[in-house]
Amino acid sequence: MRIYSGFLVHPLDKGGLEYIPDGALVVSDMGQIVFKGTRADALRDYTDIPEEQYDNAVILPGLVDTHVHLPQYEAAAIGTGELLDWLNTYIFPLEARFADEEYAHIQSQRFFHDAMRLGTTTMSVYCSSHRRATEIAFESAFHAGLRVCMGKTMMDYSAPENILSSAEQNINDSIALAKAWNGAGKGRLQYTLTPRFAGSCSRELLRKTGEVARIEGLRIQTHLSENPSELRYIAELFPEHTSYTDVYFAYGLLTEKTIMAHSIYLSSQEKSLLKAHHCAIAHCPCSNRFLQSGVMALRQMLNDGFRIGLGSDVAGGSSLSMLNEAKEAAESSKTWNIVHRGQEMPAINAEEALWLATLGGAQALGLEDVIGNFNAGKEADFIVCDMDEIMPHNSSFVLPENMISRLVYGAHPHVVSKTVVQGKEVYKRHRA
Ligand code: GUN
Ligand code: FE
Repeated sequence: MRIYSGFLVHPLDKGGLEYIPDGALVVSDMGQIVFKGTRADALRDYTDIPEEQYDNAVILPGLVDTHVHLPQYEAAAIGTGELLDWLNTYIFPLEARFADEEYAHIQSQRFFHDAMRLGTTTMSVYCSSHRRATEIAFESAFHAGLRVCMGKTMMDYSAPENILSSAEQNINDSIALAKAWNGAGKGRLQYTLTPRFAGSCSRELLRKTGEVARIEGLRIQTHLSENPSELRYIAELFPEHTSYTDVYFAYGLLTEKTIMAHSIYLSSQEKSLLKAHHCAIAHCPCSNRFLQSGVMALRQMLNDGFRIGLGSDVAGGSSLSMLNEAKEAAESSKTWNIVHRGQEMPAINAEEALWLATLGGAQALGLEDVIGNFNAGKEADFIVCDMDEIMPHNSSFVLPENMISRLVYGAHPHVVSKTVVQGKEVYKRHRA
């Protein structure tokens, strides 16, 4: 067992953050949180246990990235143009490189290492369309110690030949990968069926994906309603359907284990379909701006009762930092107000954005019983943020919410000094 003491920030199930200034977590050898509360109580009840004490630091639940593309990492911040052109110009050629195992290995290691350095402990990942590269990504995540839901990106048309395979091959590969990896690493690794989007999956592939998800009880992730040109493209491809969401509905892809990225331009019927099937949303504000896709009505979607997490969507988004994504979520909710004068909604503040980046992400991935805050019984996924990096010592803004605001708005790349998953340290900052 071990005691970690410092300023705890604990997202509450009912919303909001709880602050425990002289707080402590007690973590079992199995990596579970057995106690959360004041340091005084921890020291009274748990004696002769090693303690790690952190001054001028906050201890937060690990950050959750609910939507990200591993093979696109090298293109982060690169390129111009909107979604469909950007995919063709920059992304498909890059994803094709994952046929090379050595390249796939180097990229996977770098990707997970950099995510942990930025305080991400859980990720929902799209791999390339290669079975072997997906296996390599799982091996890398396993060795890194991260918590990952991940799958091979499935496509059977409308992309270069070298990253396509038949519907049957896509499904057989996915089933084989799921058998090998779903539940591995003491449950840290899970398999997610990953049809890229309706624009690169045939009706047969969509139908088979829905069937396998139902029979095997697997997760699904895909893209929905991201960019106006994409909406036109999907409407042309699927004229028999009333909406983009209806396409996924018809093929059985709307489940409570489905997470839809973007979901910007939804009609009220589409929202009702998603709600009726308990689908979650990965909100990707950084990407939505980088690719000029649009501004999602985050406040409205939260009021509608959706489970929403944040997604970096690298390389649509330019950074793996989920603190940066939290800042973008707050700023993009203000942008929505700017472009909808007269219909303003309360903007998302930094505390809410941090809630979305932690417990919100956990809920969106259906992992709220395992991670997301410090309730006793959950697994110990947490990060230590060094406030020396953020708050000047003589700052006149010393309230906890000021600290969180600085943490989110600073999105400082070196603020995380330690990252822990399932009670095990997976990253520690080394000072030069
Ligand atoms: N829609 C289909 N594929 C992609 C992708 O790789 N990134 C984003 N942002 N949207 C997509
Ligand atoms: Fe994406």
